[in-house]
Amino acid sequence: DKANYRHFMAKEIYEQPEVVGQTLARYVDMAAKRIALPLELPFDFNDITRILITACGTASYAGHVAKYWFERLARIPVEIDVASELRYREAPLRKGDLAIVISQSGETADALAALRYAKAQGLHTISVVNVPTSTIARESETVLPTLAGPEIGVASTKAFTCQLMVMAALAIAAGKQRRELSDIDELKLVGELIEVPRLIAEALAIEPQIEKLARDIAKSRAVLYFGRGTSFPVALEGALKLKEVSYIHAEGYAAGELKHGPIALIDESMPVVVIAPYDRVFEKTVSNMQEVAARAGNIILMTDATGASKATVDALVTIVLPDVAATFTPMIYAIAVQLLAYHTAVVMGADVDQPRNLAKSVTVE
Ligand code: F6R
Repeated sequence: DKANYRHFMAKEIYEQPEVVGQTLARYVDMAAKRIALPLELPFDFNDITRILITACGTASYAGHVAKYWFERLARIPVEIDVASELRYREAPLRKGDLAIVISQSGETADALAALRYAKAQGLHTISVVNVPTSTIARESETVLPTLAGPEIGVASTKAFTCQLMVMAALAIAAGKQRRELSDIDELKLVGELIEVPRLIAEALAIEPQIEKLARDIAKSRAVLYFGRGTSFPVALEGALKLKEVSYIHAEGYAAGELKHGPIALIDESMPVVVIAPYDRVFEKTVSNMQEVAARAGNIILMTDATGASKATVDALVTIVLPDVAATFTPMIYAIAVQLLAYHTAVVMGADVDQPRNLAKSVTVE
């Protein structure tokens, strides 16, 4: 049931400190600060020349973040592809490589077909699923469960952050096995991961500010989201979430793409949500923000305390999120974009848990 929440979506957003923490505890030895996967993998990451990550919708954005992690932490090339494209284009895959399918329900038709395609090509397969009895779980070589618990709201929230947690642990494990990460690196990264559930709880404290902002967003015809690096997929996820539950048109972009087209949309009526933790690409994102400000766009800056003090742009609203290790910011900034979508939909009186035209599990292609 919904406990004391108005909607399942709100309940599930608020469950994230707990369920992300449970997922973390399954993949990490908390006392030793080491990765401890729940099972032994049937391959060695040193033999993997390329990882293929495939999924649909929100799950694909978790995969998109993980691409950056595997490339940075384990130096493995990663291809990320939506499952509906992968399954039909007869992509050449190398036998012995690794395919990772991410799915909350484990029943998504396109994701299942992509899994079967990868298997038929002789790849190792891992599924990151929330329903352990699902078809995708049953048919994959290795199952890495997310421990989000049942997700009832049609818009995926807690499954997404749990998928990120599993992928982060796996990327560190891969980096370790390939000796791209030392014991000390592992200790440091796992120490940072262990902080995430508490920081998610802290991030939830921005809710009153988001509620106020949602009243303005609800009057908009369209909203742009942009970010760089791992904040790019968070921008995509923010835009998808807003579209799904509020029916406001929204697009997510890589910040550097702005001047290649979307900047034409910017005027004083356009809210632009900028996801910019103070990380290695922060300054680049700030210069994109300046381009928006110069065209009178309404900037909603999601950043941390350092970013807020260093951003040389007048934002309409600055949302300050807790400090988190730069690698793992997506799990914190996801909370902000989820809350914004949720409250905008509530202001507009939309059916938050059952958006029109959507189904929780898409078992047709
Ligand atoms: C977004 C959403 C969808 C799903 C997608 C994949 O809020 O719910 O985009 O993420 O349909 O579903 P699963 O993860 O069940 O394969």
